[in-house]
Amino acid sequence: MGIGAIQVLIHASELLTGEGIRRKDGRRVKPQDVGRIPDGALVCRDGKVEWVGPTSKLPAKYARAKKTDLKGLQAVIPGLVDCHNHLIFAGDRSEDFAARCGGATYQEIAARGGGIARTVSETRKATSKELERLATARLRELASHGVRTVEIKSGYGLSLEAEIKILEVIPRLRKKFPHLTLTATFLGAHDFPKERTRAEYLDDLVSRMLPLVAKRKLADACDVFVDEGYYTCEEARRILTRARELGLKIKFHADELANTESATLAAHMGALSADHLLKISDHGVQALAKSQTVAVLLPGTAFYLKASHAPARKLIEAGVAVAIATDFNPGTCVMLSLPSVMTIAALYLGMTGAELLAATTYNAAKALGLEKCKGTLTKGMDADFAVLPYARFEELYYHFAR
Ligand code: NIG
Ligand code: FE
Repeated sequence: MGIGAIQVLIHASELLTGEGIRRKDGRRVKPQDVGRIPDGALVCRDGKVEWVGPTSKLPAKYARAKKTDLKGLQAVIPGLVDCHNHLIFAGDRSEDFAARCGGATYQEIAARGGGIARTVSETRKATSKELERLATARLRELASHGVRTVEIKSGYGLSLEAEIKILEVIPRLRKKFPHLTLTATFLGAHDFPKERTRAEYLDDLVSRMLPLVAKRKLADACDVFVDEGYYTCEEARRILTRARELGLKIKFHADELANTESATLAAHMGALSADHLLKISDHGVQALAKSQTVAVLLPGTAFYLKASHAPARKLIEAGVAVAIATDFNPGTCVMLSLPSVMTIAALYLGMTGAELLAATTYNAAKALGLEKCKGTLTKGMDADFAVLPYARFEELYYHFAR
């Protein structure tokens, strides 16, 4: 929708505002919290929601406005938010995939030169234009699934020049996709580059890379992959403390391959989110429940890695705000359909429709620090909505891989 324009939608088969989800801060949501309005109408002006309610109650002042009539066939929901995505990289890892199908583990493949290192080498070789072309096609596909806000992580450069090359693609994507909101996360701490010592790279991260990224405003947040064989909690604390001093928000890849108590650290450091959590401990669950940190679950990744899923029910019942995202990346989840991730979450994580809506709207916005304006369709919120090709919201994840 263009700025300054008024847009009126009428006769949505149903309109889900998500109002109750916001009221509960995305915790322990129930079916009635989705704010379902049968035969709904929505008025947006200047990029904000101005009025929402049943079509029969549309105020008379909109009588002459041009309207889009959904004829009772299509549902309207808040625009989806993909809050964990590694959109920008070159090359493919289909050989790694074949090795994994043959029984090799993710860590074994990384140890023999595949894994993140393989994508780093391809991404370093690619031109900035090439990275933009690849990311553009991916973003278009993501948006076709109703996604209106996307977090984009760097992390396949692992050098100052290459990380900057990746991050610089994001402002160009913003120009190309003005109807989308794109946030940038610096993930220089995704792995260690092969050509340098661990200590050298860590020093470079905190003393050169982070200050430059912050000064040039190339990122909103900083993330660290804390795991066995990757970064330790101590290293993450050092990197993210510096990031916070420089004005960046902080995030964690936490407790994915092994339990490192990184979710607990994320909660204690006030991170926006702790992501993955396949191996989270009960202690980690309690720490998240007491915090403002969102648990971002990535069930497409657990599926693709043939790993056991994150304990979604335990997290939700403990009162944690749970989001889900695609984690689109070349190694552990090569898919761009957030609705299909919802299907996996419904089947294997036992999440209900209301929980899935919360997980892809309000809670996902909160994982990016955007919950004040996104994730809910009520007066004053951003006019980010998705018109589904279905009459009921629940059909969005009932159809699979569509
Ligand atoms: O989120 N866990 C770390 N990073 C990615 C995988 C990166 C890769 O294998 O290329 C993830 O799963
Ligand atoms: Fe990831």
